[in-house]
Amino acid sequence: MKPDLYAVVGNPIGHSLSPRIHALFAKQTGQNMIYEARLGRPDHFAADVRAWFREGLRGLNVTVPFKEEAFRLVDLRTPRAERAGAVNTVWQEADGRLTGDNTDGAGFLRDLTERLGFDPAGRNILILGAGGATRGLLEPLLRATPARLVIANRTPERAVALVESFAELADATHLESSGLDVIPEGPYDLVINATAAGLGETGLALPASLVGETGVAYDLVYGPASRPFLEWAREHGAARVTDGLGMLVEQAAEAFAAWRGVRPETAPVLKELQQGLPER
Ligand code: ATR
Repeated sequence: MKPDLYAVVGNPIGHSLSPRIHALFAKQTGQNMIYEARLGRPDHFAADVRAWFREGLRGLNVTVPFKEEAFRLVDLRTPRAERAGAVNTVWQEADGRLTGDNTDGAGFLRDLTERLGFDPAGRNILILGAGGATRGLLEPLLRATPARLVIANRTPERAVALVESFAELADATHLESSGLDVIPEGPYDLVINATAAGLGETGLALPASLVGETGVAYDLVYGPASRPFLEWAREHGAARVTDGLGMLVEQAAEAFAAWRGVRPETAPVLKELQQGLPER
């Protein structure tokens, strides 16, 4: 039988690990499918995506910089995509309509709770950054009922806006915003770097007291870009630091499960990817 076709679209797309991750999932679960990387064309994104599905594509992952455009393009959205304001996973319904989902937040939470064993309930959490990446995390994080969640951003207004739009989910959580230079005193149990720039490039002087001795520092990006933040956290006594590779694998597993109805094991896939990457 001809394999089902899937793809990831982004720009650039050459270094995407998604084809490898999904190939490992497919092998592990015995799914007859192919998953390829496609370079997105900024001026033709919507038309290209619709054409790909007409030509038989079964599912699409969307990465930088197209997640918001994918959100606008789809005909239907899952509730979590609606909240995230961005779409990273697309499939076609029987009637031809495209549904957009967002698996980033769920992938992050699963990596945090399952791999790192960190339960957000009752904890103090700080997120650096108030862009699309942060927006994607807020629903699953708030549902996990931390005691306090601070969103700190260079442009404080964006953090304020996020706090306002997620306030209704924050019954059990003291949700607050701040500027990056006036972050409420820690220590925090978990500090998440969700700024687009590696913190090293920002020249930011973060207070040393942000992460406690039992604290976890999590950078959403993986590889060398995560180094400055993770080194800073290590130097300031974080018990555990991690980059976003685990989240990448988990968001992929979540998309794979939505498409194929089978949930792959992520730990062996993460291990295999870690072996192939330069030391982090
Ligand atoms: P993403 O989807 O990755 O979150 P985004 O929506 O462009 O991308 O958001 C980028 C985030 O990184 C924002 O929080 C941004 O801060 P501003 O809202 O003030 O722009 C943050 N960011 C980018 N460059 C930064 C820098 N040099 N210093 C501090 N924060 C930075």
